[in-house]
Amino acid sequence: MKSILTYVVNKLSFASVLLVPLRFYNAAKTYTSLPWQILKWTFTSKEWTNYTYDLQDLNQEHLIYFISQITNTEIIKVREYIAELENDEKLKEYIRETTLKSDRSFLSDTEARYGRRLGWYAFTRIKKPKVIVETGVDKGLGSVVLAAALMKNASEGFEGHIYGTDINPKAGYLLEKEPYNSYGTIIYGDSIETLKSFPHKIDIIITDSNHDPNYELKEYETIKDRLNPGCLVISDTAHHSNKLIEFAETMNWNFLYFQEAPKGWFQGSGIGVAYKG
Ligand SMILES: C[S@@+](CC[C@H](N)C(=O)[O-])C[C@H]1O[C@@H](n2cnc3c(N)ncnc32)[C@H](O)[C@@H]1O
Repeated sequence: MKSILTYVVNKLSFASVLLVPLRFYNAAKTYTSLPWQILKWTFTSKEWTNYTYDLQDLNQEHLIYFISQITNTEIIKVREYIAELENDEKLKEYIRETTLKSDRSFLSDTEARYGRRLGWYAFTRIKKPKVIVETGVDKGLGSVVLAAALMKNASEGFEGHIYGTDINPKAGYLLEKEPYNSYGTIIYGDSIETLKSFPHKIDIIITDSNHDPNYELKEYETIKDRLNPGCLVISDTAHHSNKLIEFAETMNWNFLYFQEAPKGWFQGSGIGVAYKG
């Protein structure tokens, strides 16, 4: 009996050794197109940091359901808002022209690729915020997307303003021109210092400045008494930081996370949201 058992075990381990090349092939084929995607991007993009990209189609569907769940909004409405941004040809043209004229044009692509910012847009259209804060604006792609949403809200009778912060005095060029500059202001300097003296109550805050998790937590602590009921606290670094989870727990709020799956080589970041259920 014992020798039969030993025979079977030996046979099985031999079979698993035979499967090694197949296992290697299965794992490796997941990545075989990656070097080509990287090579193509290296020669077709000018971006150096804060990469832009479109989301994969299924990933965009996941984003729609994520937003619907958090805001208790019908899927069809969320889809409508996402399509509204995607079809906003004036905004795309504005981004193209402003990028071409900027002194950072050699580091920036002119095509508008919004990634997770589609979600920021939909949140803004649904929540009709009076005050949005975005800490860390870089070129201002997120800011101008938010300003475009606020412009649509205003046309429906809901006024709002986005306040961006950035330590770099050259940041935010995409928000400098009409009509979008009427809906947003960049405040230059350290984000926490800006938040300490920020005079308004906040409806949506997106933290995307210094990506040190302890700095991020300090941002939440600085504004926690200035959040309006129904406020959304959004982290752009929740893919590598648990600080928004910690914040949500101290507030006794919910936390949900959406992971980007970009078209192309980049692994993406995501949207962490803390909100009162
Ligand atoms: C990842 S980028 C922001 C991207 C932007 N939210 C977007 O949608 O494209 C981070 C920005 O944070 C700014 N930053 C870094 N440390 C900061 C600080 N302590 N205070 C304010 N801004 C800061 C950087 O200058 C940079 O422009």
